[in-house]
Amino acid sequence: MKEMKFETKVIHVGGEPDPTTGAIMPPIYQTSTYVQSSPGEHKGYEYTRSHNPTRSRLEECLASLENAKHCLVTASGLSASTLIMHMLPKGSKIVCGDDVYGGTYRLFSKVFPDIHHYKFVDTTNLKKLEEQVLAEKPALIWIETPTNPLLKISDIAVISAMAKKIGALTVVDNTFMSPFFQNPLDHGADIVLHSVTKFINGHSDVIGGAMMMNSQDLRDKLFFLQNAIGPAQSPFDSWLVLRGIKTLAVRMKAHEQNAMKVADYLDKHPKVERVVYPGLKSHPQYELGKKQMRGTGGMITFYIKGGINESRKFLENVKLFALAESLGGVESLVDHPAIMTHASIPREVREGLGIFDNLVRLSVGIEDCDDLIGDLENAFSKI
Ligand SMILES: Cc1ncc(COP(=O)(O)O)c(C=O)c1O
Repeated sequence: MKEMKFETKVIHVGGEPDPTTGAIMPPIYQTSTYVQSSPGEHKGYEYTRSHNPTRSRLEECLASLENAKHCLVTASGLSASTLIMHMLPKGSKIVCGDDVYGGTYRLFSKVFPDIHHYKFVDTTNLKKLEEQVLAEKPALIWIETPTNPLLKISDIAVISAMAKKIGALTVVDNTFMSPFFQNPLDHGADIVLHSVTKFINGHSDVIGGAMMMNSQDLRDKLFFLQNAIGPAQSPFDSWLVLRGIKTLAVRMKAHEQNAMKVADYLDKHPKVERVVYPGLKSHPQYELGKKQMRGTGGMITFYIKGGINESRKFLENVKLFALAESLGGVESLVDHPAIMTHASIPREVREGLGIFDNLVRLSVGIEDCDDLIGDLENAFSKI
């Protein structure tokens, strides 16, 4: 059969009817262990921390969406990041983008600093990055693109080639684009990481992570650690993601359509200082985005004119946009990164990056766009 298109893969890969009953929905294998006919003789499943048929179906589907040979699904995005850090020899050097999700920054700077050495750099500045990479000779380059929350876009192909020259691995956190809009392995990255919690699941009812790769060696090392350390996803959560993922393509199109309209609206608003959205020509890496992404996604960052008081007034008055951490669900969310998702980054570092008290991040959902704009307009009128 011809290679399936994305819209077909999300529904059919890993979604085959149950062979024993014909059930069109995959069963939830809610079991911790599996009966063996003789010691060591089993059907490929021994214990759910290691393998589970519901999770295997999700791994098969996610691997195909990232054009990868392998996928491992974990209990959270951060547990996937943790496994990658444990895979590196003690004392490894890591060059990491300076504007990564606050929890990733916290993991690297507070949990692993006695084990590895981290340099946080602006990975959009390729000249400076190359200088750092040549000076540091890191074991791994970690990029998030577009970044959370500033939506900076880094060149995956150039950075992966830079890493390969010195024998380093490249990891790309692809959470914001989802596999629908971007496939980092196709641009030369070694591992793609997702917080499955976000667009992939899409319904704000699961915490999960995933890593996709082509190398059997990387897969085996990470699988060993997943089993040895223990952060595999539960069968029920894998099943929920298998359900949510069926609409990933239609959801991503709807998120993007709404986000483009909201970004245009904000761009013209007298109470807005600046809007950052990859679909606006004013985005600093607009052309690069068009080259490596197939769309511009559902995330928008903007600066309100004023400071914390104006931000608070706005955030207390939105009604459809729920003031909450996280992103990527069908419902619209609004976040104040400085106080909420990125509070673990010291103020001086945060402000050096541009995460000020007047910065607001929107995860634009798939509701009616006029309703969403009406909600924002009402909140602006209260400032
Ligand atoms: C870009 C990005 N990567 C990783 C994570 C961590 O994922 P999780 O919350 O599933 O552990 C998040 C969470 O917000 C994120 O936004």
